[in-house]
Order: sequence, then structure tokens, then C-alpha cells
Amino acid sequence: MNQPEHIPVLLDETLKVLDAGRPGLYIDGTIGLGGHSSILLARNPEAALVGLDLDEAAIKIAQEHLAPFGDRVTLYHSDYRNLPELDIDFKAVRGVLIDMGMSSFQLDTPERGFSHQADGPLDMRMDGRNKTTAARILQKESEAKLAQIFRDYGELKQAHKLARAIASARRVQALESTTQLRLIVENVCHWIPQKGKIHPASKVFQALRIEVNDELSNLGEFLETILDLLSPGARLAVIAFHSLEDRIIKHTFLRLAKPETGVPLIEILTRHPAVPSAEEIGRNPRSRSAKLRGAVRV
Ligand SMILES: C[S@@+](CC[C@H](N)C(=O)[O-])C[C@H]1O[C@@H](n2cnc3c(N)ncnc32)[C@H](O)[C@@H]1O
Repeated sequence: MNQPEHIPVLLDETLKVLDAGRPGLYIDGTIGLGGHSSILLARNPEAALVGLDLDEAAIKIAQEHLAPFGDRVTLYHSDYRNLPELDIDFKAVRGVLIDMGMSSFQLDTPERGFSHQADGPLDMRMDGRNKTTAARILQKESEAKLAQIFRDYGELKQAHKLARAIASARRVQALESTTQLRLIVENVCHWIPQKGKIHPASKVFQALRIEVNDELSNLGEFLETILDLLSPGARLAVIAFHSLEDRIIKHTFLRLAKPETGVPLIEILTRHPAVPSAEEIGRNPRSRSAKLRGAVRV
């Protein structure tokens, strides 16, 4: 059977930010299918790697992809925000990569419910151990809370209207499928497909995914904690796929590079974030919203 694929985004730029040719230990906090990490390990025979992912299915595939690297690789089924609690010699770490969001493997598996383009259950959990699914949120949360989720995490103009439509639809029938939700969004937003226009359900699905997986909580605190644990010279590369994440990363980096104490923790390596070239977007359209920021511990 063919293995699922995920094309790593901003690959060369990321390895450059990590200065990944140096011997030593690297951490991939979102290993996915092992795209970035397999290339890092192949190009640098003196690198070892610790990889984490919330998605057990992804970890299993990464395990197979990375099997040729033998005991140079250690994988954990874990949230990267738990990294500081793992038994790792952080002082020996050379670089940490966080490539946020979803993999193509997750997006292209209809049973996971991440895509409005295929019919599936409204699940959206990255970690199967999580009890909260998108269906549960749509069923249980108040109209006001739903509106807040759509506004804050989807930046949706019709957030209140959509929340009202969902509250009224669920009184008749529970919302259980991606198609049911897509149809409600299309109705509320008076959607008419147009070339180059993004489907409004993309924002709604993004908002629910962020809420289900609690994606933004403690992100800034995590970045600060991990940078603090690293030795001078160690690098952090973070790839974000929407402005909410990117804003947190940008402000955290600025705060740590220019703290009120006057003693910086990091130097920022990317004054402007690296973004994919037209060539990369042509080859991998899903890379189009990626932004890479890098910092080095001082
Ligand atoms: C864009 S993919 C990573 C792809 C990977 N760089 C590659 O090239 O194969 C993002 C991955 O991060 C995982 N993920 C998202 N949030 C996470 C978190 N808080 N902790 C650990 N993994 C997470 C997802 O399950 C997904 O597999």
C-alpha cells in the first residue's frame, strides 16, 4: 500500500534557520509524517532527533519513515507543550522545530473531519485521547460561545449569524457531519463559488479545529520556556499557518529579544518571516499561508 505523503514546507529555509548541519540533538515538536526530520537526518549523519506528535496515527507512519535512521530517532505521542517535562538533555539540543497546524495526511482523511471538502464526522481531534470533538462543541456550547469561537479563531464576519443558525439547526437535528456544517455555512454566507475566493467554511473549520485542540493556549509561554531551557547557540524555527498563531510567535520573539530587563534571551534570525516562493506554492498549494520565524538563544 502507498504510504501517505506530506510535503514539508519551507524545507531549505527551515534547515537553514536551524543551522541543521551541526552535529547534535534536534527536536521536532510536530513530527507529522517525518518530512522535515527525515531530510535533516539524511543530510546530517551526526544528528539525533527527538520527535513528538499529538496524532498517534502520524507517529506510527513517522516511525516507518524514520526507521532507516535506527536509534538516532526517539518518538513520543505527546503535545509539544509538554516538551519541558520530558526526560531530554535540553542543554545538548541544537535546534527545535515546531511546524504547526495539520498535515496533508490529516486533511485528506475524511474520517478525521478536518476538511469541509469531504463528507465525514465532525471530529477534528488531533489526539484521539481528547474527549472534545467538533460535534460536541457544536451541540453543547452556547450560541454566544460559538459566536466567540467563530469570531476569535476564524475571524468570520458573520460569526453571530452563523452561531444563531447552528443553535436553531441543532434543535431539529444534531450536527454530526462535515457536510451538514458546510451547508449551514454556505447558506448563512450566501456562498457562490468564485475562482480565487476562499470558501467561508475554511475559516469556520479552522476556528473549530483551534477550539477542539486548544491550539493557541500557552503557545507564547511554551516558546519562552523552551528557549530558556536551551543553551546559547541553539535555534528555534516555528512555522505558522494563520495570523493568530503568527502574531503570538512574533510578539513572543520581540518580547524576548528586547525585554524590559535589557538582557535578551534570543536574537531574532528572521526580521521578516520567510514565506514560500511562487515555485513552492505552485508545487504545493497548501504551503501558501506558511510563515517561518527563527530565533537563536543568546
Ligand atoms: C504541518 S504537520 C507537520 C508536518 C511535518 N513537519 C512533516 O514535514 O511531515 C503538523 C503536525 O503537528 C501535529 N500537532 C499539532 N499540534 C500539536 C501539538 N500541540 N503537539 C504535538 N503535535 C501537534 C499534528 O498532529 C500534525 O501531525
